Amino acid sequence: MRALNADEAEQAVRRFIADVRSLADVGPSSDVATSRQQKERLRNTLKIAGQLDEGADFVLGCFSAGRPIGLITLNRPGEGGSPNRRALEIEDFVTHPRSSGAGSALMEQAATVSQRQGYGGKLVVLAQDGSRGAYEAMGFITEGIWMTLNPSSPENRDRWRLEGDQWRRRKDPTKESTVRITRDVPLAPSTPPTP
Ligand SMILES: CC(C)(COP(=O)(O)OP(=O)(O)OC[C@H]1O[C@@H](n2cnc3c(N)ncnc32)[C@H](O)[C@@H]1OP(=O)(O)O)[C@@H](O)C(=O)NCCC(=O)NCCS
Repeated sequence: MRALNADEAEQAVRRFIADVRSLADVGPSSDVATSRQQKERLRNTLKIAGQLDEGADFVLGCFSAGRPIGLITLNRPGEGGSPNRRALEIEDFVTHPRSSGAGSALMEQAATVSQRQGYGGKLVVLAQDGSRGAYEAMGFITEGIWMTLNPSSPENRDRWRLEGDQWRRRKDPTKESTVRITRDVPLAPSTPPTP
């Protein structure tokens, strides 16, 4: 997990899209219901990764065996964004469809960046419909068209804790908490084709 400069971010996005596209080439499972869900997840993943702004104020990447499996971009409050001036705004957030835990690890880092930048760990996002459940699981609440996280709110006392200036999620000890690729993932060739 690390912050990326603009060049690293561009490379990571390209790599991520190539890997996810290889997954799309292999095709979803033969089960019809799962296959519909998988297709939608793949479509959303590629759409969001394709529009990801490498020039955002902060780009954080989660890597497994050197491959990017999740990316999140954050902006300081500014013109045209969220009216909430006391939170960093999540612009894009995406993880590899066959990974698990990367979203959680990225959100801990995003809250930590918010803490270090003087926003108290607070985050705000215009959530895509399919992602609302994930945001709720991580302690976000809906406020109008926005979803917001305040990790130090009383409601989040059981979900988040501050260690120094780092925010950590309090996870269910019965659940696995490592970031991992859940199944074999076909990887694109190591030099991804230029789009
Ligand atoms: C939204 C997204 C980034 C979340 O990442 P992720 O890799 O699934 O996150 P994790 O595996 O770390 O899961 C984080 C938590 O959310 C929960 N979660 C994930 N998807 C969920 C869903 N669809 N419904 C309910 N909860 C969900 C997990 O169970 C986990 O909870 P826990 O840690 O308490 O057990 C990912 O689903 C994604 O890339 N979606 C497509 C792109 C998209 O819509 N991005 C959002 C743009 S606003």
